[in-house]
Amino acid sequence: MGYTVVCLGGDGIGPEVMREAIRALRALPLELELDEYPFGGPGIRECGEPLPSETLAACLASDAVLLAAVGSPEYERTAVRPEQGLMKIRKELGVYANLRPVRAEGVDVMIVRELSGGLYYGRKGRLKDGMAFDICEYHPWQIERIARRAFELARVRRKDLTLVDKHGVLETSTLWREVVDEVASTYSDVRVETMLVDNAAMQLVRDPGRFDVLLTENTFGDILSDVAAVATGGVGLAPSASLSESGPGIFEPIHGSAPDIAGRGIANPAATMRSAVLMLEHGLGRTDEARLLDEAVDVALRSTPTPDLGGTATTAEFGDTVVEALAVHAGAGS
Ligand code: NAD
Ligand code: IPM
Ligand code: MN
Repeated sequence: MGYTVVCLGGDGIGPEVMREAIRALRALPLELELDEYPFGGPGIRECGEPLPSETLAACLASDAVLLAAVGSPEYERTAVRPEQGLMKIRKELGVYANLRPVRAEGVDVMIVRELSGGLYYGRKGRLKDGMAFDICEYHPWQIERIARRAFELARVRRKDLTLVDKHGVLETSTLWREVVDEVASTYSDVRVETMLVDNAAMQLVRDPGRFDVLLTENTFGDILSDVAAVATGGVGLAPSASLSESGPGIFEPIHGSAPDIAGRGIANPAATMRSAVLMLEHGLGRTDEARLLDEAVDVALRSTPTPDLGGTATTAEFGDTVVEALAVHAGAGS
């Protein structure tokens, strides 16, 4: 059975890392239709908006969306910006559960970031006196559905869940604790602890291996996942899966468009390839192919590291190694 995947390269290093992820997916023994659409800066330039309606329609009709990165200095001061496309596609696809696994020697953390609420999607605006505001808003049902996801994940992992918040200061944090307490009562096999976000940032740097599932709201999750990634090898390695209740998920590295290295062909495509691994596993249910790609990426990380990992390989050379590793496997299997 074939699958349709919409590929959104976006801006900066986005198209560079997406090119290699597409090559790797094409090297898999799997019938995949990989369709590229304009998104972010290219969407603005070609259609006047960062998420053109044709792109959105293709995403909605797809089995999964693989997304690289958006954002460009070119649009820093403009009213229409690439990041608005990212906010909109997440909303339109109803993805609220952003799973950000962080793995390294002795570390296996699953950051469960709520993706549909908080400061990002709360009321925002300007007042007559010049003041600007972004309101951090959460409904109990938004917290409950992400908490259930996190508890389900903890249950099949090491059964430890850390709720990260700013209790004592934020009313939304008090609500998170109330709702998570209630959900916890139906998951008595999972141990729950709470931790304040500033401390959590410190513990992630000091001892990331102490965490199993880390559950948190949108903004804290954004920041903590970069902290965790850098404490375990860098953002060039960190993938994510943004999932809804049903329908296509968005599979996206946690890093951005890296304008400082864009166009030089040295970006690490591992995070996007690992996002493709999550897509195969969670989006398409193709566990075997997910494992094949994951192992091929590991081979390239060992033998062909890019400069962010202390190596000298280009993005394309990293991709060559992944494709070769997949070909060796295909040869061995035939
Ligand atoms: P960034 O993640 O793009 O870059 C931070 C640092 O990490 C830079 O030094 C960069 O060179 C490095 N880096 C990132 N990805 C890398 C990779 N694959 N290989 C090697 N090095 C890598 O963060 P930023 O500079 O703050 O943001 C740049 C733009 O990206 C902004 O416009 C921002 O809004 C956007 N952004 C988009 C996403 C997304 O699309 N999901 C995520 C984060 C930031
Ligand atoms: C991420 C990014 C985005 C976010 C930005 C670009 C809107 O930083 O995916 O981590 O904050 O969600
Ligand atoms: Mn981020």
